[in-house]
Amino acid sequence: MSDRFSNISTWESGARNWPSSEQQDLICCRVEAETHDVVTFSFVTEDGRPVRFEPGQFLTVSASVNGQTLERCYTISSPPTRPFVVSITVKRVPDGVFSNWIHDTIRPGKALRAYGPSGSFTSTASSAPKLLYLSAGSGITPLMSMSRASFDLGSEIDIAFVHSARTPADIVFRDELLRLSQLLPKFKIFFVCEGVDDAGSWEGGIGRLSLEMLSDRVPDYKDREAFTCGPAPYMHSVREILRVGSHDPTKYHQESFDITAGVALDPTLLPEANAPKNTFTVKLAKSGKTFDMDASDTVLSALKKAGVAIASSCSQGVCGTCKSRLLEGSVDMNHNGGIREREIQKGLRLLCCSRPTSNLVLDL
Ligand SMILES: Cc1cc2nc3c(=O)[nH]c(=O)nc-3n(C[C@H](O)[C@H](O)[C@H](O)COP(=O)(O)OP(=O)(O)OC[C@H]3O[C@@H](n4cnc5c(N)ncnc54)[C@H](O)[C@@H]3O)c2cc1C
Ligand code: FES
Repeated sequence: MSDRFSNISTWESGARNWPSSEQQDLICCRVEAETHDVVTFSFVTEDGRPVRFEPGQFLTVSASVNGQTLERCYTISSPPTRPFVVSITVKRVPDGVFSNWIHDTIRPGKALRAYGPSGSFTSTASSAPKLLYLSAGSGITPLMSMSRASFDLGSEIDIAFVHSARTPADIVFRDELLRLSQLLPKFKIFFVCEGVDDAGSWEGGIGRLSLEMLSDRVPDYKDREAFTCGPAPYMHSVREILRVGSHDPTKYHQESFDITAGVALDPTLLPEANAPKNTFTVKLAKSGKTFDMDASDTVLSALKKAGVAIASSCSQGVCGTCKSRLLEGSVDMNHNGGIREREIQKGLRLLCCSRPTSNLVLDL
């Protein structure tokens, strides 16, 4: 591909390669309110060196909250073209433990522990000349990083960006996206809001995204490679809209932030109603603990039911947090990019998306 956007994944910026298995402290340098419940936190590394990542990748951050070590994934909303500062944009989830902790605790000068960038949801790997970005709520963050990178590089890629929010006041990065659409001739932005106070002055869509709305605003949507991010119900409906609209499913990519999305999105992850009700025994080699689990359960969920504390974050085979070694037995693993082939060869498995097909011995 000739567009310089595609070079991001291979460029050398002098930035340190920060493996996704390695933790380091990031120091907060800026906190900016985006909306009433969304805040961007920007960080520098302790030694001030730049960070190398691809637009759309996320960090898994970790902190002790109420005496418990928790890990959560947050997409880097800043672009890799500005590698000295990495930003995450966090929505305060009602009753959410980590998001509220970040909002209430992280201030300039404070440290946040993080694993290196991870994830394969990025448009840099695509050679398509025309892209369709579809996001809802805080799912805008990976697409924002991609859009900012395109802008910084003066990319020629044709981007149609359709973002859904509850109300205009909930649109994250609204002013910046409008500015990008004025500055980049091939960057089109369209907002869809469920509720609008002053419909007379609102130029976007009202209600939920529909095929009619999409065809009206992005008539050539079938020619575009689609990148979608948002809550599980939103992505379900986007997939359905694109299916009915005859969009080529091989030109479709998605990432979900939803903790239930792995189940909701991928039917292969669902316990099948008519699956045989097998029970397998799980033995933990280090602790010596043994328990039985249902074959339809994920190993992670069975461990939690058995009272075994194990770090996990996305629950959908994306982040790699629950990666553990399987010493004996076999599992059916349906991951979403959180583990590499060579790690699988070495016996590692993501327990959140693995179901047993025999008795297991785990290196725990
Ligand atoms: C790859 C990836 C990238 C992400 N990027 C972003 C991002 O850029 N920005 C962003 O804001 N978020 C992002 N997320 C989501 C983020 O990781 C967290 O899931 C989110 O912040 C909520 O975490 P929390 O600890 O606040 O909520 P949690 O405490 O984990 O709770 C989540 C929800 O579940 C409910 N809940 C909790 N416990 C229970 C229970 N026992 N029964 C029923 N309901 C319960 C809570 O009320 C809440 O609604 C991303 C997730 C992934 C997987
Ligand atoms: S918890 Fe994220 S891959 Fe398992």
